[in-house]
Amino acid sequence: MPGLTAPAATPAEGGQYPLSEEDFAALARFIHQRTGIFLPPAKRVLMQTRLSKRLRARRLDGFRAYRKLIEDGRDEAEVGHMISALTTNVTRFRREPHHFDHLSAKVLPDLVARARQGKRVRLWSAGCATGEEPYSLAFTVLKACPEAATLDIRILATDLDPEALRIAEAGVYREDALAPLSPEDRRQHFTPARDDRSQARVTGPSRDLIRFRRLNLIEAWPFTGGFDVIMCRNVVIYFDPETQDRLWRRFASHQRRTGDHLYIGHSESLSPTARQLYRAVDGTGYIRTAVPAEATDGPAAPHQ
Ligand SMILES: C[S@@+](CC[C@H](N)C(=O)[O-])C[C@H]1O[C@@H](n2cnc3c(N)ncnc32)[C@H](O)[C@@H]1O
Repeated sequence: MPGLTAPAATPAEGGQYPLSEEDFAALARFIHQRTGIFLPPAKRVLMQTRLSKRLRARRLDGFRAYRKLIEDGRDEAEVGHMISALTTNVTRFRREPHHFDHLSAKVLPDLVARARQGKRVRLWSAGCATGEEPYSLAFTVLKACPEAATLDIRILATDLDPEALRIAEAGVYREDALAPLSPEDRRQHFTPARDDRSQARVTGPSRDLIRFRRLNLIEAWPFTGGFDVIMCRNVVIYFDPETQDRLWRRFASHQRRTGDHLYIGHSESLSPTARQLYRAVDGTGYIRTAVPAEATDGPAAPHQ
């Protein structure tokens, strides 16, 4: 097997393989180029723990062989597994509930009025992980506009990690994960899962509102239309500052109406350049400003 010239590394106790600084740096560089995720040296143990499983699955004898497999460029499936293993998908329903409250009180009344006049309304959950965020958006929209699924309102939900997206599309969650939702939302949008009563499945119009798609935020975006609301929370925190800045400016280029909204995570902040394109409204909520030539409804994005 190629790549076994390095001394064979046997897994230590707990099934972990030794990961040298050099192999860590090479794999971290690869991940950064592919995803924008920046793994500083302090993340070596995290990488070792999460990828040792992949070494076992591939029956490799050490990280040098794994690195060769990845760098060879012939095993995209393994690259996908590595990315899934190294992304952090932690999320929950109505995470940072003030964003959903702000959306209900200040943003949706106007957007719903626009949709009821036949206009196009688009929301984007960028880095949606296992789906709790876009479903929370959908429940919030449906509360403001029960007929939303019959209007031109859609929520695009994207993530890099296909395994997280599979869970999102299945829409099946443990009952206790529904705790942040109101009893009304739970009743209205979930039914007990058929095969396991401790789980609940999202049903009804919220599913019609959301389109799940795999999208790497640092690659090309296959849409041209604008977004009235973008929620990108707890994603860029893993990126280096230049990648963050580029992403904020790309979001701004897809928010073409003064007053479009961007929500980011509580431990994230806009770059100085992006701060000239948005105005803070509520801690980590922002309004698009300084739109040069006010666009009307741009061309539709393909998911819509
Ligand atoms: C911690 S979760 C955040 C989930 C949700 N937005 C929230 O705040 O609860 C971060 C997500 O960002 C995704 N992600 C990381 N890098 C990405 C990239 N380059 N493109 C798209 N998604 C990415 C990960 O796969 C992960 O699901």
